[in-house]
Amino acid sequence: MAMELDQVVPFGRSLDEYQAMFSLSPDDLDKKIIGVADGPASFNAEMYARGKHVVSVDPLYAFCSTEIEQRFYAVVDEIIRQVNETPDDWVWTFHQSPEQLRARRVHALTHFLAHYEGGKAEGRYVIGELPRLSFSDERFQLALCSHFLFLYSDHFSYEFHRAAVFEMLRVAREVRVFPLLTLALKPSPYLSPLLEDLTRNGYHHEIRTVPYELQRGGNQMLCIKRIGLM
Ligand SMILES: C[S@@+](CC[C@H](N)C(=O)[O-])C[C@H]1O[C@@H](n2cnc3c(N)ncnc32)[C@H](O)[C@@H]1O
Repeated sequence: MAMELDQVVPFGRSLDEYQAMFSLSPDDLDKKIIGVADGPASFNAEMYARGKHVVSVDPLYAFCSTEIEQRFYAVVDEIIRQVNETPDDWVWTFHQSPEQLRARRVHALTHFLAHYEGGKAEGRYVIGELPRLSFSDERFQLALCSHFLFLYSDHFSYEFHRAAVFEMLRVAREVRVFPLLTLALKPSPYLSPLLEDLTRNGYHHEIRTVPYELQRGGNQMLCIKRIGLM
């Protein structure tokens, strides 16, 4: 289904945020990585500048850089206003303040936009959406998905989440998902049935506490591997 840009919050995170959210080691950064729902994150651009290999997939990439930039500036101040109005919901350790958060989102977007059109032409940004990915089995070593699954549990069903995670496990040997909370800062109701489903299907899973927390309580990452590939 075609994405409507006015439904999207095109906020993207940077390489240092991805490293913290996903506990990425120097070895991890050398893996073939697919960033699913990467949106306007600068992760891919910053990795490319370091000679690393990332393919980002998102329905947002159906839009051009000007459209993404305009949508970002149409929503950013309203979102920062909402953050300021809900001080108890946020933790200012990684980011120091709402103003710094805004500055970091602008910086990530600017970096992304500078890399986007060229990267898209070279296949580093691919239009696509969960729960189906257009890649062959085990094409990647690591799939990362941040701020999409679990976060939007009120918008997407358990079946969607299950199909999405198993699809990422089809194209990558390991999958990491962050955060495990919903937008309402509640643990996603899908986590526990999904973990049971994964165990039944021969996957090892681990929930790791990571050094990144912005949503209060949102400092856990799910890491999944097929048993035998550990
Ligand atoms: C809040 S952004 C997160 C961007 C990035 N992962 C980060 O953490 O900086 C959520 C992204 O999910 C994308 N998205 C929405 N529906 C999707 C789907 N079905 N499959 C993959 N991505 C989707 C949106 O386009 C948006 O870019």
